[in-house]
Formats: sequence, structure tokens, C-alpha cells
Amino acid sequence: MTTATENTENKQLAVSSEKVLVLDFGSQYAQLIARRVRENHVYCEIVRHDITAERVKELAPKGIILSGGPESVYSENAPKIDNRIFELGIPVLGICYGMQLACQALGGKVDNAPAREYGRKNCRVTTANDLFNGFPDAADVWMSHGDQVQSVAAGFRPIAETNTCPIAAIQHESLPVYGLQFHPEVTHTEHGSKILENFLTRICQCEQTWKLGDFAKEQIDLIREQVGSAQVICGLSGGVDSAVVAALLSKAIGNQLTCILVDNGLLRKSEKETIVDAFKTQFRADLEVVDAKDRFLSALAGTIEPQAKRKIIGAAFIDCFQEEAAKVENAKFLAQGTLYPDVIESGAAPDGPAATIKLHHNVGGLPDELGFELIEPLRDLFKDEVRRLGLELGLDEEIVWRHPFPGPGLAVRCLGEIQEDKLETLRDADAIVVDEIKAAGLYRETAQAFAVLLPVQSVGVMGDARTYENTVAIRCVDTDDFMTADWSRLPYDLLAKISTRIINEVNGVNRVAYDISTKPPATIEWE
Ligand code: XMP
Repeated sequence: MTTATENTENKQLAVSSEKVLVLDFGSQYAQLIARRVRENHVYCEIVRHDITAERVKELAPKGIILSGGPESVYSENAPKIDNRIFELGIPVLGICYGMQLACQALGGKVDNAPAREYGRKNCRVTTANDLFNGFPDAADVWMSHGDQVQSVAAGFRPIAETNTCPIAAIQHESLPVYGLQFHPEVTHTEHGSKILENFLTRICQCEQTWKLGDFAKEQIDLIREQVGSAQVICGLSGGVDSAVVAALLSKAIGNQLTCILVDNGLLRKSEKETIVDAFKTQFRADLEVVDAKDRFLSALAGTIEPQAKRKIIGAAFIDCFQEEAAKVENAKFLAQGTLYPDVIESGAAPDGPAATIKLHHNVGGLPDELGFELIEPLRDLFKDEVRRLGLELGLDEEIVWRHPFPGPGLAVRCLGEIQEDKLETLRDADAIVVDEIKAAGLYRETAQAFAVLLPVQSVGVMGDARTYENTVAIRCVDTDDFMTADWSRLPYDLLAKISTRIINEVNGVNRVAYDISTKPPATIEWE
């Protein structure tokens, strides 16, 4: 049986000959740096900070970026770099902690002074150089560091400064090594993308050939080779990841693919129909829809506690999926929409950093040990790349730009005990929230928008009569990574319209509230 790791190595060999490595020193921005590099059409991988010079040589990157990190280079636990990497002749860009490491490695002792600095600083270029080509004489950059280099190590020269940080950027005099005290990868740094582009094109001489279209072709060939004449199963959730996996597989192996959609009775309004319609028009593969509504709802009956609900749903989903998969003859492979951040955060990438972040409660997913070989064609991609790939493969914008929907579905948005009539109410309210946000042209700007049905009745008045009915909360958030989130500042008029429509059109609701909690400490979902 092929392991996930072997799969990844095979695929990465085929992906692109030109690559850049990001050495991860524990920065919250390592993934962002990698995304920015790929936006410049250069393939990029995140690797462990202690990768050896020999391994780097084998991987033959055109450039290396050292990420920032939370430690001080002088602390006992400071993550180290194999100093021989600087001697390989491969261009290196050290960011924040990475710059301090480069100084320490190449210039002996660096005089670091504690100087906590966070936020925007005006940065002036003091010496013309390739890294800052096209950067204005001065622009705002984003600082976030505890230590800063106080005097340049021998062999380096300062090339930029701010009022509080006299050495905001450095260049080595004889080696292709550069350092930035600030973060070019964040959008708060003006012209940050220009600096990264300069590093990639002027300093690393990258040809910028990484294209998603080529990636799709390579993946289709790999899938055909791997699958041979066997059958492949793929679970559809209505989300973009599984849709893109199905689109790739359907292009690669057509009717050797069977997709399975488990209708657990917890889907949104018209969701099943939308998936089935899209499937019919856009794929040439089999789709099995499992009607498991009664099974899920009877298993959930009487359960209130959120974790217990999640467990019931997770177990029922796995059972249903397995039963259906067993009906597919010669099924050897399971295709999944695992993405690069999942691979990195689980510590499963071959040269990737060790797992540091706890994996998300993935209810609605499948365990690894189902007995199938895995096909995970999106393992090397970020979410935004998956969306672009979806568009390249001809998927509808409607599917590609859909907000994420949790595996346990409406069960975690219908607080308290799940009952069919409550789900109906929630579905209607939720459809109004999404329709109105779309009509206002704000759907793409928000990361997730939905309704939650609260187990709270309150008094109201309709016509001349007193009512005692349900409350709906609207949850709408802005986020890039779903780890932290802020509530969306929706226009009052839009909120008013949503509220009026829900109260007028949805039976049994007389009050609407807007959730203005950030994550943390609240979560995005209510259960
Ligand atoms: P929270 O509520 O933890 O959610 O802030 C963060 C993101 O994860 C989604 N979510 C899930 N996705 N299975 C999933 O596939 C789950 O069990 C699950 N729980 C939450 C949530 O919708 C948000 O996008």
C-alpha cells in the first residue's frame, strides 16, 4: 500500500523543477510567505528549520527564505540553521529572526538589543540594491520583533533604515545573502510583494514558470498512472475542495470514479439539488446519493451536548460511507481534498516542520484506516490555489467561491436538540442571510455567513397579538485562515433587510440578533 508520504514525494518530483524553500523557524507567517512566492509563479515548499545542507543541495532550490520566529537567537531554545547552507551559493533572504540568524552565522557575534517593535514604520532605502529595486525612497513596512540587529556583522552592509531601527535591511558584500527586519509578506508592508518579486527574479533568477494549468495536467497523468484500471471513490460535501478533487479525477479517469454524497438531513436549503445538478452538468462520473436523513436524525434524537452531537454525526457518516463504498466493485482508492496547510500542520510533509498546531476537529471527514489507498491531489496547494484550479477546470463560480460548511452541518447551528421542524426554520433563515449578502455583492468579501437557531424564545408583538417565538442569530465573519476571525462590519441597511425578511418570511421567528464576537475567544460556529 502506498503511504501518503510516498505519494507526496512522487508528486513533488513532478510538480516543478524550479522551487524555493521556506525554512520555518516557528513563524505564524511561514505559510503566508510560501503563498506569496507561489503568487509570483514560483513553486515553494515549507521545510524544517534544521534541514541539512546536503538535503538542501539535493532539493536544489533556486532560493531560500528564512522565516521569522518567536524566539531570540540568543535564547536556549533558539531554533538553529545548518550554517553550511550559506556556503551553497544559493541566494538566501532572512526575514526578522531569519535576518538575525544570517548575521549570527556569517558575522560572528551580533550585537542584539531588546527593542520590541510592532506595527507600521516608515522605511528608507539607504543604499541602492536589487532587493529594493522599484521601491520608493521611503514607504511603510510592518515590524513585529523582540530583538533587532544593532550593528551589522562584518561582511554585511545596511541597505535600509527606520527611525527606530537603524538596520532595517542588510546585504552581504560577497554572498547572495539578504536580510529584512520587517515582514514583506504581510499586506501592511507597502511594496512588500515587489521586494519578494525582486528576490525571486533579480536575485534568484527564477523564471516564474509555476502554473496551475501545468499542475492540473501533471496531476491528471499521475492519477492515471497510479489508478490503472481500478475504481476510485470520492466523498462529496458540497465544498470547494472535494468538488475540485472530483473534477480532476473525473478528467483523469472518467467513469472509474464514483462520488458519494451522504444526505445526512443536515444540509442547507436546496444543497443536495445544487450538488446533484452541478455534478450532472460538470462531471462525467457516477454519483451515488445516500439518503441517510432518518438514520442521522434518529441517532441525534434527545442529544443536546455539542460534542456528543459531533461524535454521533462523525460515526454515522463513516458507517454510511463505508456501506456505500463497499458496493463499488474493484474500489481500491479513496480521493480526498487534503490541502497543503493540513499537511504542514499535521507534520506529514517529508521535509516539513514538525506538527506544532493542534489539528482541527474534523467531524465529517474520514479516518485514514479505511483500507483504501489515498489519492490526495491537492496536498501541495493552498485554498486560494484550489479555487483558481477549480476555475481552470471549468467549475462554476458558485461552487468555487462557496463559503466553507462544517462536516456536522446544520447540527452545530441548530442549538440544543435537533428536530426536523427546527432544521426547516434554520434552513429558511439561513437562505435569506446568504441571498441578501450575495445580493449586496458582499459574499466574496466575507469568509463565512450563516444563520444560527437559538434555543431561546422571547416575547414579541405581531399585528395586535402577543407572540412568544424563536430567535435567530446571524454570524458573518472575515478571516483568512479560520484560526482567528473578526465579525464582518455589514452595513446596517443590509442587516435591517435580513432581519425584516427573516421575521416576515420565516414561521416561528420573531427576533434576530447579530453576533459581534471575535475568534478567539468565541469560535466561528456556535457549537
Ligand atoms: P470554529 O467554529 O472552530 O470553526 O471557529 C473554524 C472553521 O472550521 C469549520 N468547522 C468544521 N469543519 N468539520 C469541518 O469540516 C467540523 O467538525 C468543523 N467544525 C467547524 C467552521 O465552519 C469554520 O470554517
